[in-house]
Amino acid sequence: MIYSEKVMEHFANPSNVGELPDANGIGEVGNAKCGDIMKMYIRVESGVIADVKFKTFGCGAAIATSSIATEIIKGQPLEKALALTNKAVVEALGGLPPAKLHCSVLAEQAVRAAIADYYRRQGVDPALFVDANGGGCECCGEGENCG
Ligand code: FES
Repeated sequence: MIYSEKVMEHFANPSNVGELPDANGIGEVGNAKCGDIMKMYIRVESGVIADVKFKTFGCGAAIATSSIATEIIKGQPLEKALALTNKAVVEALGGLPPAKLHCSVLAEQAVRAAIADYYRRQGVDPALFVDANGGGCECCGEGENCG
């Protein structure tokens, strides 16, 4: 399997790894097929993702996609973070092998799950903002069954 330089870079030296003790939104998602799990912590201040960290128990591509996803959403308003697609994650990494595209879906879903949790904690119905069914894989249209 050939990975881009960017993937290798983020796998070897991922950004924003760890937990956020003062997180006000936490999302955990997993892929039933490969068993990998991604946990995303966000701290939202005035509608902006002031800080973000992640813990991924999974493959190298899952670590690389989490890392780049945190870089992309950090400092962004929630609406912008919600618009993050797995396709954008893949592009930012300079591509992923087809068998690894589902790993990028996990990153997108983890961001959504963390933001949904944030809204829930604020007493707001996340369904108003977060499309729980959205965020399927745009690469192959297989959604959660991707990979
Ligand atoms: Fe499952 Fe990469 S193989 S997330």
